[in-house]
Amino acid sequence: MSAVEAAAWDSLVAGLAPGTAFHAFTLATVTAAGGPAARTVILRDVDPSARTLGFNTDARSGKFGEIGREPRVTLLFHDPAARLQLRIEGEARLHHEDAVAAARCAVIPEKGRWVYRQACAPGIELASRDGAARLGLLSETAASAHFVFVSVCVHQIDWLYLADTGNRRARIGYRPPAARWLAP
Ligand SMILES: Cc1cc2nc3c(=O)[nH]c(=O)nc-3n(C[C@H](O)[C@H](O)[C@H](O)COP(=O)(O)O)c2cc1C
Repeated sequence: MSAVEAAAWDSLVAGLAPGTAFHAFTLATVTAAGGPAARTVILRDVDPSARTLGFNTDARSGKFGEIGREPRVTLLFHDPAARLQLRIEGEARLHHEDAVAAARCAVIPEKGRWVYRQACAPGIELASRDGAARLGLLSETAASAHFVFVSVCVHQIDWLYLADTGNRRARIGYRPPAARWLAP
């Protein structure tokens, strides 16, 4: 079982590289109304020893408020070629206008910073298709104010491997530490 856990973390570390299957994953949160919300985000940080994963987002996005209200999140990863799915439950911590956010924001290439310099908050209604672009870009200071690094402390990994010889599923928990094989 420890081999499964190590392989799961290795897959996550590999997902830091653009173009790999785990680089983009689905983040699920709970809305203010208590319903589910899911969207794609990019994996920006993996620390197997601290058991944390991280991604960047905008303080004006819906997920920022959702995580603020309910930090319990699910992260869904799927690698079709490896026939591997990871469903990860954890608790998210928002780094906004702190030293962690500043350090993370500083290393975003110019190409990626424009997202945080948009004048329109994500999700607001526009008068036309190109309405957001017409407003132009805000300053670098504004980008820093919008930037958020989200660190997720992993509480549990549900590992599913589809094999021709029989599917395999395991649950690796960290609170308390426990590893179990499950019926797939
Ligand atoms: C491939 C891909 C990668 C994305 N990466 C991110 C990301 O890293 N962070 C982010 O906040 N949104 C990212 N998005 C946009 C989100 O999926 C989502 O549309 C947006 O953040 C608004 O989500 P919300 O209203 O649920 O907060 C990405 C979308 C795609 C399709």
